[in-house]
Amino acid sequence: MPLKKLKKFQIKNICCIGAGYVGGPTMSVIAKYCPDITVNVVDINKDRINNWNGDFDKLPIFEPGLAKIVSDVRGKNLFFSCDVHKSIKEADIIFISVNTPIKSHGIGAGEASDLRWVESSAREISMHARDHTIVVEKSTLPVKTAEIIKSILESTKQNSDGKNNKITFSVLSNPEFLAEGTAINDLENPDRVLIGGEDKESIDLLREIYLRWVDEKKIITTNLWSSELSKLIANAFLAQRISSINSVSAICESTGADVEEVAKAVGTDTRIGIKFLKSGPGFGGSCFEKDILNLVYICKSLGLKEVASYWEGILKINDWQQDRIYKAVVDKLYGNISGKKIVILGFSFKANTNDTRNSPSIKISKKLLGEDATLVISDPKVAKNKILESLNIKNKDINFVNKISVEINIAKAIENSDAVLIMTEWEEYKNIDWKVLQHKMRKPAWVFDTRSIISVEKIQETNLNFWQLGNGEFN
Ligand code: UDX
Ligand code: ADP
Repeated sequence: MPLKKLKKFQIKNICCIGAGYVGGPTMSVIAKYCPDITVNVVDINKDRINNWNGDFDKLPIFEPGLAKIVSDVRGKNLFFSCDVHKSIKEADIIFISVNTPIKSHGIGAGEASDLRWVESSAREISMHARDHTIVVEKSTLPVKTAEIIKSILESTKQNSDGKNNKITFSVLSNPEFLAEGTAINDLENPDRVLIGGEDKESIDLLREIYLRWVDEKKIITTNLWSSELSKLIANAFLAQRISSINSVSAICESTGADVEEVAKAVGTDTRIGIKFLKSGPGFGGSCFEKDILNLVYICKSLGLKEVASYWEGILKINDWQQDRIYKAVVDKLYGNISGKKIVILGFSFKANTNDTRNSPSIKISKKLLGEDATLVISDPKVAKNKILESLNIKNKDINFVNKISVEINIAKAIENSDAVLIMTEWEEYKNIDWKVLQHKMRKPAWVFDTRSIISVEKIQETNLNFWQLGNGEFN
């Protein structure tokens, strides 16, 4: 779009397609800092939209600080609805924040992203946009997705009477770097905002939105492909650090070293840095696995076999870490957990979120169920139906339903259990009084701490057997 046409163009209306973990918090923060801009968040999922419009303490996404912002701006300049067409029509800029899971079948199954929701969003936009519209990729997408979006927008630019309409589009990539659990702080104080595109005027318009609260030095502009690729690579680097430290955790357990001490000693080298060196049950969440699989797929498509297998190694270590935790539990319980009661503390993939996507708890719970254990699952924020849904268990699955119960109260959950497995680093698990709770467990009882949140000294004051990831066994 030539400059003269955009000269007086001002963003007054934003539409965000997708009211999920990215769209919801991102648009809430934009609405907070841009009171003069109307922000419409739309989704095809009616329940989700109803929840966004419902009680502030029951929003579909738990994120510290989110409910306060939504309560301040909802109904003023932030609106949630299922009216996708109307919101597209009214928008000057449209963010695509839809889900992009890994393809389950067909070409690229298990590695490539399933772009059907992105494609349908682009088709909706092409049919209902009324004026020059800036289309922003927000979801994590494989490199060159903007090309697909552009091609759909251009090729469907015909009205039903066959005549070309005059609408023009400009596609930008503006990947989200927020981490769940700290999303509001990440959005309000980002390390950087990345905007990729070819059209300077559109980039500037998006830049102006962020400039309301982000320092200009933090806004990086690149070409489209650099922006798309940078998101995948940033996540791949973060995941690589986790797999690196997790591989070291096993060495520590066998040698008497403590992985926390090693991480500190290594991370204080400023060239390395202390972040993302926390050893645990492997990374979960919606991004890391998907992005690395995408990267592997791109490398293979480009004939870069060695590069593909380098990045694949990070996922292998992640699976291996979860596998060895499960084996440690079985091993310590005399090689047999059939009929034994094991408590899983924490089902979200990390603390401060109710998101269970790719949670290590899912994989480990399934493995334990496969050994015929009885599980009691406890999480302060994940609802019972979501836990059962994540484990793929339907009510008619009698065998499994009888073997799983969900109990939010920790003391009740632990009653008559043989082992407790701490899977998520929720604050309340750090302060459990094991001196009191030990009496509720069946002896010999084990506590497995996969997040290194329990003090070894304190637990040694009890009669519990203790295993801490990256630190070893204590009796
Ligand atoms: C990640 C990226 O951080 C974010 O920039 C991107 O936009 C989306 O993906 P998220 O998945 O929400 O965010 O959470 P993150 O804090 O990165 O944690 C991912 C996983 O790694 C969690 O399972 C977490 O427990 C694990 N992790 C993280 C570790 O095991 N050790 C660490 O040191 C850090
Ligand atoms: P993310 O973590 O990337 O935000 P989520 O799965 O939490 O992913 O949210 C994506 C949302 O996008 C879902 O609520 C889904 O219903 C919505 N969505 C997917 N396709 C469309 C579409 N074509 N129109 C409107 N909403 C869509």
